[in-house]
Amino acid sequence: MSALPRLGVNIDHVATIRNARGGDYPDPVRAARMAANAGADGITAHLREDRRHITDDDIARLGAQIDLPLNLEMAATDEMLRIALEARPHAACLVPEKREERTTEGGLDAAGQQDHLARFVSALRENGTRVSLFIEPARRQLDAALALGAPVVELHTGAYADACNEGRAGDAERILQDLRAAADYGARAGLEIHAGHGLTYDSVKPVAAIAPVRELNIGHFLISEAIFCGLDQAVSHMRTLIAQARGGVAP
Ligand code: PXP
Repeated sequence: MSALPRLGVNIDHVATIRNARGGDYPDPVRAARMAANAGADGITAHLREDRRHITDDDIARLGAQIDLPLNLEMAATDEMLRIALEARPHAACLVPEKREERTTEGGLDAAGQQDHLARFVSALRENGTRVSLFIEPARRQLDAALALGAPVVELHTGAYADACNEGRAGDAERILQDLRAAADYGARAGLEIHAGHGLTYDSVKPVAAIAPVRELNIGHFLISEAIFCGLDQAVSHMRTLIAQARGGVAP
């Protein structure tokens, strides 16, 4: 059995529910603690420009109160860079962000925005934060990540997950091939490979089975499932599926 990919639990949508009423519950920090106790290896949170879910205060409290590594998803803007430099999360994942989108649509165009991204990657790295770039599984994006000196890339699994949800098995398989090829190419070139977006119990295994993948970041489905079975059960079951994909049992 190869080393299991770590599971980063994204708790954004606990904050979405809280913000629907503007109060202070459910608390994403409480969710992060519960995910940690259920076997999560890290906590991921996306501080969006419009603060539609996670807030600045959530980031400060997660940093202060959670022992697991925090992965801050952020757009490459000066405001977010200032916040990240102050918060000093374990990791920062640079993502594209559009105000009108429902979720992160498509990967970062690292190849097209190399000049813009360079100072974000270097400032975060110099501040002790591990930088990853959220990219599509394409060689030119991996080459750009390497040129930028980002140690990690997170491969966008959204198109694969959509194909699975919509029963387009041929498309899902084709995108999986791209994910596999990108993971192999990136890992051989020295990048650490992560993957995530849109994954569910039904779609996680083929991605978790890709040998170079070291971390999966999963949020919306886990928080949705938690409504019915509790977050601890949802996280624990996801861990079991990831372990099964690598031919073993969850630790
Ligand atoms: N990885 C990245 C970079 C993301 O932006 C997101 C969504 O915030 C995720 C993973 C998790 O996606 P989902 O909530 O669909 O599981």
